[in-house]
Amino acid sequence: MLGIRPESQNMQESAVKLNNSTQSPLTTVAKLEVKNLFKSYVGQGKQKLTVLQDINFQIFPRELICLVGTSGCGKSTLLNIIAGLLPPSSGQVLVDSQSVTGRPGSDRGMIFQGYTLYPWLTVAQNVAFGLQFQKMPKAETRDRVSYFLNMVGLLKFANSYPKQLSGGMKQRVAIARALANAPAMLLMDEPFGALDAQTKEQMQQFLLELWEQNHVTVLMITHDVEEAIYLSQRIYVMSSHPGQIEAEVDISLPEHRELDIKLSPEFVEIKRQVIHMLRCNGSSDGSSDDISSGDSVH
Ligand SMILES: Nc1ncnc2c1ncn2[C@@H]1O[C@H](COP(=O)(O)OP(=O)(O)O)[C@@H](O)[C@H]1O
Ligand SMILES: [Mg+2]
Repeated sequence: MLGIRPESQNMQESAVKLNNSTQSPLTTVAKLEVKNLFKSYVGQGKQKLTVLQDINFQIFPRELICLVGTSGCGKSTLLNIIAGLLPPSSGQVLVDSQSVTGRPGSDRGMIFQGYTLYPWLTVAQNVAFGLQFQKMPKAETRDRVSYFLNMVGLLKFANSYPKQLSGGMKQRVAIARALANAPAMLLMDEPFGALDAQTKEQMQQFLLELWEQNHVTVLMITHDVEEAIYLSQRIYVMSSHPGQIEAEVDISLPEHRELDIKLSPEFVEIKRQVIHMLRCNGSSDGSSDDISSGDSVH
């Protein structure tokens, strides 16, 4: 899977540690495995457009992994296939070694960039929504909703409606809703992409704190290199046209991270190298306008 261009060959000796192994030090049983995945669309002129080509990767229990790539490289397509919302052209998605290809399930909690709360339901009712489908007893549902609203710091807003909340608060409700269903993992599609720069940083810190407490397995996709490095133990770098996993990068920073780590020389060096990798591989026409270094709001 590791296809490094000549420009990147010296990375083994630098701040970026490219990881060539398929084994995690945590455990050898993958929580999520994507195997030989391809996705093509039929374009307007009936020509085949290959969006994802031979995607292979694994995520192990309790990892927080980001997949970073330029806009249009196929990130959302890949996450939707993993969530079971879209069928692949070929290949497999396995959760706990079981195939879930093309099948959505409550084992994969999904959080989108757009705010997906039901506007006619209160915050508590939004969090309870999935639990009612499971026919969970009312008292247990109430306790569970309170527990997760407390976890995301929004218990006081249980009876508010989404329109009364800020963007960051809405995403925290979405995270509480996903966690309340006890998923095997969280799948996040640019969840902080619509937030202003300051709120985005607060949410990144919030996600790390939540992950440190919960150790839920998270796969997040983003075009923001800084966000990916700050949050992850490993990142997968995608190239475009067709979307492929270009490299797997170990982020050898301390597990507990404060925002100031983004200013450290180690962090800046990893960021420089990943941005360089994306610029080299960003698209077939060489453009890379949509790579975000995290310094601007998208
Ligand atoms: N339903 C579709 N039909 C045809 N092309 C599509 C469809 N959905 C996405 N694409 C194309 O697939 C590519 C990847 O899209 P997407 O997964 O949304 O990228 P990203 O999330 O990385 O920005 C884009 O070129 C997009 O135009
Ligand atoms: Mg997308």
